[in-house]
Amino acid sequence: MRCAWAIVAVAIAGALWLAGCSGTSGTTVGFSQIGAESAWRTAETKSIREEASLRGVNLKFADAQQKQENQIKAIRSFIAQGVDAIILAPVVEAGWEPVLREAKEAKIPVVLVDRGVNVADDGLYATLIASDFVEEGRMAARWLAEKTKGKCSIVQLEGTPGAAPAIDRKKGFEEVLAKHPEMTIIKSQTGDFTRAKGKEVMEAFIKAEGKKIQAVYAHNDDMALGAIQALEAAGMNPGKDVLVVSIDAVRGAFDAMVKGTLNATVECNPLLGPDAFNAVEKLLKGLTVPKKTVVRDRLFEQATAAEDIKTRRY
Ligand code: AHR
Repeated sequence: MRCAWAIVAVAIAGALWLAGCSGTSGTTVGFSQIGAESAWRTAETKSIREEASLRGVNLKFADAQQKQENQIKAIRSFIAQGVDAIILAPVVEAGWEPVLREAKEAKIPVVLVDRGVNVADDGLYATLIASDFVEEGRMAARWLAEKTKGKCSIVQLEGTPGAAPAIDRKKGFEEVLAKHPEMTIIKSQTGDFTRAKGKEVMEAFIKAEGKKIQAVYAHNDDMALGAIQALEAAGMNPGKDVLVVSIDAVRGAFDAMVKGTLNATVECNPLLGPDAFNAVEKLLKGLTVPKKTVVRDRLFEQATAAEDIKTRRY
């Protein structure tokens, strides 16, 4: 018992020491998060919150509930409060110039996490830490091309309109499809990255196309899991008669792969807290940071899912 308490005390002392050593300790950082639309998003929020608390950062968290206007309001409020830095996960790519300029004028560095922005002057933000969404789309398409020998009718569940991952995952997927003339997208619509919308849109796809559907490509796991529910309810066989491939590699996707209803998922790592605060720390010390840090991803399949799930952290 005494030994257990000693271990706990050492762990606490270690964490406090780490927080004290961190260059971000005692700073105030504003984090404008998109919302809580998916399991991925929840994991990202957790990672940022945990890293902030480990480093002794006073984190001001704002949930925008999927609305860009709420994110802009939150950033303006962070500026008014005089935060040391801002971390922003932008819901869409366009429309950020004015508020990013305000942050720049206030000399507050902005670290973009997860999604990029479309601005004429990339000096308006300090750095972007994100996955290569185009490559994720390509990986999903290459997998499907291999499994179907380049011949199948696909329905696509797209992410939030205007969001970087929705634009890029579509682009990467369709780029590979262009080399396979017998792979066709017969229906494509947004499911807004949510399970409920993914299910609803899939129900409409089934009504319109029925048995013609041979594969589902979803821009995230949550929508794929919703689509699987819709397929099962319609008496179809996801994972067998209808191949399902998606992106994120969250725990729910592994559970579905173990059950045999999801075929493959491309990882998109949401554990961005450490990289985000490393960037904040460097920026506050006046050091330079790379304009972009690309998070590396890989594809997971049913065959190894039962083993892989044991090491998943989200
Ligand atoms: O921007 C990352 C995407 O946003 C994730 O794939 C998705 O699940 C989330 O909502």
